[in-house]
Amino acid sequence: MGDATTAGRPETATAPETAESVPPGLDEAGLRLDVDGAVATVTLNRPERRNAMTFATWRGLAAIGRSLPAGVRVVVLRGEGPSFSAGIDLGMFSGGAGGEGFTGGADAEGTDRFIAGLQEGYTWLRRPDIVSVAAVHGHAIGAGFQLALACDIRVIAEDTRFCMKEPALGLVPDLTGTKPLVEIVGVGRALELCLTARTVLADEAARIGLAETVVPREGLDGAVRDLADALLAVNPGAAAATKRLLWQAAENTLDEQCAAERREQIGRLREVFGS
Ligand code: ACO
Repeated sequence: MGDATTAGRPETATAPETAESVPPGLDEAGLRLDVDGAVATVTLNRPERRNAMTFATWRGLAAIGRSLPAGVRVVVLRGEGPSFSAGIDLGMFSGGAGGEGFTGGADAEGTDRFIAGLQEGYTWLRRPDIVSVAAVHGHAIGAGFQLALACDIRVIAEDTRFCMKEPALGLVPDLTGTKPLVEIVGVGRALELCLTARTVLADEAARIGLAETVVPREGLDGAVRDLADALLAVNPGAAAATKRLLWQAAENTLDEQCAAERREQIGRLREVFGS
């Protein structure tokens, strides 16, 4: 396991120095990337498998994060077909679907490195230079639920069904999901959701903070477009600085947060007023 205590912090997930074009192999990884100006849309694209994800999918997500064009400011994660994602491809448990072995080596250190590589597919979504939006519909199970949790904002359709299935399979959620889940719903609710692996429907998801917005299924794409437009209307520097501030607020003392606000504002004042 990687360092779950810092996995979601934007300061640990920085923009790449250089951006390449679309990474190779996305198709085989069950992914599609569409970049339209400042908006990149990442589509989980194995609808016949309910967008079940393999190691290749998570590595593909990491590659997208590393190669994102510099001008991209909003990243939308969505699923093709009836579901956002049915989570890990269960075929991998029996060595199929690219399941080249779960331990990445016999020792704990090798396994740690292996899982850390997969987590990279999720952590970049917290980078301050982008706002990540999960556009969720249908099932979002296990690794799929965690992918939605890795995003800054969740816009969900009324048919959304979240489920943290890992403990029911003898595993823990290890794709960066435990931290945002606890931050959003609290330890008690997170325990209840994970250890019962029960399904959370859209109404409840909105009530307990797992979704910022719930819309009818046919309105999901439009709602996400409107949100992207609104996000892009804000000054990019102010957006990145504010994201950095908000993500650290919960862990800072008031004094630390006040100091962080001052530091960010000094930079903003210089840029806006040249002083
Ligand atoms: N891995 C591999 N194949 C899958 C997965 C999956 N996670 N989920 C669905 N599929 C396949 C089905 O086997 C089926 O294949 P087939 O057409 O060859 O029979 C196809 O996708 C469609 O699935 P259905 O079950 O027929 O679709 P339905 O809409 O009725 O149900 C649902 C969708 C609820 C998502 C169901 O498929 C399901 O429960 N999948 C397993 C979910 C799961 O346990 N994921 C692991 C979570 S833990 C983790 O992510 C670490």
